[in-house]
Amino acid sequence: MLKLCQLSDLTIGKGRLLKAGDHHLILVRTNNDSVRLYLNRCPHLGIPLAWQDSQLMSPDGSAFQCSSHGALFAPENGFCTSGPCAGDQLWSFMCQIKEASVFMDETELPDLPAGY
Ligand code: FES
Repeated sequence: MLKLCQLSDLTIGKGRLLKAGDHHLILVRTNNDSVRLYLNRCPHLGIPLAWQDSQLMSPDGSAFQCSSHGALFAPENGFCTSGPCAGDQLWSFMCQIKEASVFMDETELPDLPAGY
């Protein structure tokens, strides 16, 4: 298991970008004891939604937003609700909270070109 961060490093509802090897990921705490983990890769063009934490959330803070096209993705399930890939979904991964830290199984990471 790969430790991603401390649970206390995450603000509820606010996504955070991180890397696992060559993979760019989005981690979001959806409530006190639940986190969701996604590949930071739009299903429509295969490019990252954002390159910095400050670009990731929509202005109202309710969704992840593609910094290139403005598409919106729901943090709780990764579905695109608005934009060129509406109805598509971010690639998601299982993650676990153990002893106040967040872990993922790094063997779940897909075989993608470096940089995604
Ligand atoms: S790359 Fe798909 S909405 Fe921007």
